[in-house]
Amino acid sequence: MIKLHDKYFKPFISAEEIEEAITRLAQEVASDLKDEVPVFVGVLNGSFMVVSDFVKKYPKPCEVTFIKLASYEGVKSTDDIQRLIGLTQDLSGRTVVILEDIIDSGKTLKEIHRIFENANVKQLLIATLFYKPEAYKKDFKLHYIGIKIPNKFIVGYGLDYDGLGRNLPEIYQLKTTQHMTNIVLFGPPGAGKGTQANYLKDQYNLVHISTGDVFRFNIKNKTALGVLAKSFIDKGELVPDQVTIDMLNTEVEKNAGAKGFIFDGFPRTPAQAKALDQLMSDKDSQIDAMIALEVEDEILVERLLERGKTSGRPDDADEGIIRNRIKEYYKKTAVLKEFYTDQNKYFGVDGIGSIEDITERLSTVIDTL
Ligand code: AP5
Ligand code: MG
Repeated sequence: MIKLHDKYFKPFISAEEIEEAITRLAQEVASDLKDEVPVFVGVLNGSFMVVSDFVKKYPKPCEVTFIKLASYEGVKSTDDIQRLIGLTQDLSGRTVVILEDIIDSGKTLKEIHRIFENANVKQLLIATLFYKPEAYKKDFKLHYIGIKIPNKFIVGYGLDYDGLGRNLPEIYQLKTTQHMTNIVLFGPPGAGKGTQANYLKDQYNLVHISTGDVFRFNIKNKTALGVLAKSFIDKGELVPDQVTIDMLNTEVEKNAGAKGFIFDGFPRTPAQAKALDQLMSDKDSQIDAMIALEVEDEILVERLLERGKTSGRPDDADEGIIRNRIKEYYKKTAVLKEFYTDQNKYFGVDGIGSIEDITERLSTVIDTL
């Protein structure tokens, strides 16, 4: 994802796809024009990349020139009357191919037709790399189309957002949802995930989702999900992936306007991590960091046995079950450290000390994101 001025953009069309489309356009035009030497006319500023790449792919002799449309200043008329800059050459009797980066409403195209009306060209052909059929409001024929795209705002490859983005070699699409901060709070059972999430959610105005808490809520209310989950949780085993993933998706959807999430106890397997990535990218977002609370096993057992005296959690009540939860963590969950390290998103934090000190350590990491 990239940021231009105040807006975020996500990757949309790769440089390879653009190259393919341009190669195809050049071949189509060349095969239609046979031995005629065309004049390719780029419309600045957006088309400079398309024209440059197009003519390099054009297999026969051709001429290249550029025009620019500029609005008259100080004109009273509400119509946006434009004037042409740069066309100095006599094009009468020539085949002119307009090369556009993008055609959306067709407003520029209308001006081009108006301007070329009296130029006595042999024929005026229109080629465009991108075309937005949903936005196109005119009847002018488009002779060559590279890639049809939905009516979304794009930047890159010559196209800009308020001056920026033209230099990008690929196309990005405007993210329509607001930017979120999403954190996975990680660590073995008893590491302090729930305790710390409680402070961080207020400090950073994030929604805290603990899959363990959601399961316990369902168990308490004897829902079908609760009954199913209980049979695993009470033994200290993980609830099956698909059940957990579906539940997590529902919880995220319930908080559609969130500024971001703290995920506590999710993901716990590689399948869950992949599902979370997918969910975030569906929301035009991503996981920014996995922050892991590091605590030795014996301290975990001590903490959970202590809590078991009052928590009423069956999985805290028995040392054997507690140790099984820790075993499950090493067997199935600990590998996620690699998953996030590979994406440069893993941050380990010492989870031993006072609760306030640990909150401070976590905040230091979050503030750098
Ligand atoms: P879950 O509820 O997530 O339990 P857990 O991961 O085993 O961890 P805890 O909630 O017990 O520990 P915590 O790290 O939140 O620490 P806490 O702040 O409470 O999951 C329960 C079960 O649900 C799982 O076993 C599984 O079956 C199922 N499940 C959940 N998510 C799943 C998923 N994604 N996939 C499949 N199954 C899933 O602190 C612990 C104790 O330590 C507290 O008493 C606290 O007061 C104390 N403490 C905290 N910080 C400190 C400190 N700095 N110093 C001293 N004591 C501290
Ligand atoms: Mg917890």
